[in-house]
This record gives sequence, C-alpha cells and structure tokens, in this order.
Amino acid sequence: MDLTIVDEDLKAVEVSFQEYLASRVHLIAKIGKHILSSGGKRIRPAILLLSSRLNGYQGERAIRMASIVEFIHTATLLHDDVIDNADIRRGNPAANTLWGSEASVLVGDFLFSKSFFLMVDDGDLRVLNILAEATTRLAEGEILELVKTADLGITQEEYLDLITSKTAVLISAASRIGAVLGNAPEDRESALEAYGLNVGIAFQLVDDCLDYTATNEALGKTVGTDLREGKVTLPLIFAFQQATKEEKNRVRDVVLSERITDGDFEEVRMVIDRYQGLEKSLHLAKEHVQRAKACLAVYPESPEKEALESLADFIVQRDR
Ligand code: FPP
Ligand code: MG
Repeated sequence: MDLTIVDEDLKAVEVSFQEYLASRVHLIAKIGKHILSSGGKRIRPAILLLSSRLNGYQGERAIRMASIVEFIHTATLLHDDVIDNADIRRGNPAANTLWGSEASVLVGDFLFSKSFFLMVDDGDLRVLNILAEATTRLAEGEILELVKTADLGITQEEYLDLITSKTAVLISAASRIGAVLGNAPEDRESALEAYGLNVGIAFQLVDDCLDYTATNEALGKTVGTDLREGKVTLPLIFAFQQATKEEKNRVRDVVLSERITDGDFEEVRMVIDRYQGLEKSLHLAKEHVQRAKACLAVYPESPEKEALESLADFIVQRDR
C-alpha cells in the first residue's frame, strides 16, 4: 500500500490525537495513547484524506475529520475488546486487561463523545449526518452480532449485512466525507461511498479469515477468538452448509460449548478446510476489492486514485 502522498497529513492526524485527548482526567490520555500509539493501520484516516484530495480539497478540515473518524473507530475497539474478552490488541495488552472493563468502556465513551463535539465545532451538518447515521448503524451491527452468537443458522446474506454494518459503514463514511469536503457532485460522492463499502466488506471478510489462519504475532491479537466467542463467520458458514450430518453435530457441539479446547478448534478448522471455507471467503473479498476499484472509474487517473486502488489491493494481501 503506497500512502506516500498523504504521509504528512497522516502525521498531522497523529499530532491532533494528542490535542484531542487533552483532559484534566489523566486516565483518558493514558488509555487513549496506549491504544492510539500502538500501530493501527490508519485505513480510515488514509481513505478520508485521499478521498478529499481526489476531490480537490486542500484545507485543514480533512485532517480534523480523519482524526475524528479514527477516534470513533478507537472508541468502538475499546468497547469491542470488552465485549469479546480480548487480551491482545495491536500487539499490546488490550486496554481492558491493563485498566479493566469499566475504564475501557468509559474512555471509549469519552472518545466517542469528543468526536461528536469536534464535529459540531466544525459545523458541517452534512458530515454530522453521515457520521451520526454510520455510528448508529455500527452499533446496530454489533448488537446484531450479539444476537447471532452461536447461531449456526445464520445465512451468508445475514452475515454480509452484519459485517457491512459493524465495519464497512464507517469506512464508507470516511470515504464519503472526503467527497463532501471537496463538494463533489452526487455521482462522485456515491461512487466513493460505494468504494468504502466494498473495501470495508473485503476488510472484514479478510479479518475473519485471518482469525483462523494468522499467528498471534503477525495479527497482533489472539487468533481463534471468533470461534471461542461463538461468532459464526463466513468460512464456517460456507463449510457448515456442505458438511455431513456428523460434522454438523460436532461443529454445533463446539460452538455451543462453554470452553473450546485447542483440539476442538482444530477439528472445526479441519471442517472449514475440507469445504474450502477460507478460500471461498477470500475469493468473495477479492470480488469486493475489484468492485471497490471499479467504483473509482468516474475519476480520471491521478496519484490519489492510484493510492486508493493500492489501498483496496492491500486489504486482501495483508497478514495483519
Ligand atoms: C471489531 O470487530 C468491532 C467493530 C468493527 C465494531 C465495534 C462496535 C461496537 C463495540 C459498538 C459501538 C460503539 C460505539 C462507541 C458507537 P471484530 O471483533 O470482528 O474485530 P477484532 O478481531 O479486531 O476484534
Ligand atoms: Mg473483537
């Protein structure tokens, strides 16, 4: 992924994190810095910055908006790690393991509230509307995931709807905000909205594959967490559809069990392998990357467009 053209802006985004974390309550900056300085991929800020430049915007607001979107994302991660009982995030101990669930949830609330405070301060109702809608849908997606815990009856459509809500909608918002900053015509704004949506779906599809295939070290989080938390993701959905009655019973026992052993995990993993669940998911992710890139056809060639294309490609090539 080549983000050289927004390197400087991304550095400015990092600087503004420090400013936005300022509070008389020290714990906020402490937890905020812990998670924000541990090497996230900054996909959302990069997309927002590139999209704004693609639409000819050159001002300071893109940096502020990119920081806001990353703040929202960080807030959701703090909450998500509590929900998922995660112990590692971005190669470091998850905030909840160091400061507890209460502090993680509350600092997540601070980041989330601060994001909307900064947006109101900026005063663009179009942006406020996009992010209010995106975060509502995001929370809805996370609740849908909770409702679908250990539900092996979940369909491919339901799963795609779920990952669109919990992941793709915020990435799509980032991409669309860039167009809004550049006052792009409607067709170009919609194109970037669709670009972000497809990148986001591909991102979560790959994330769910990596949860079965990566190592803790490469991923910077504990692999196998989805199955252990009862999350039925697409590789398993694909395999389960084709599995024999015996395999289905075995998978059901594992998904419903309180504690999943390494042996249980391997068994489910073998069923997934037998029916090419990972290959099929990755194939779908690649399709979404192609669709994302095709959305950019409304734009003439430019370094920004190339960078957005390379970012989309990176989504399916990454190992973390
Ligand atoms: C990561 O998924 C989680 C999300 C993308 C969304 C989390 C959303 C919430 C907790 C609710 C909304 C919160 C606010 C502040 C509006 P994952 O668990 O599959 O990814 P992971 O493997 O990186 O943990
Ligand atoms: Mg999680």
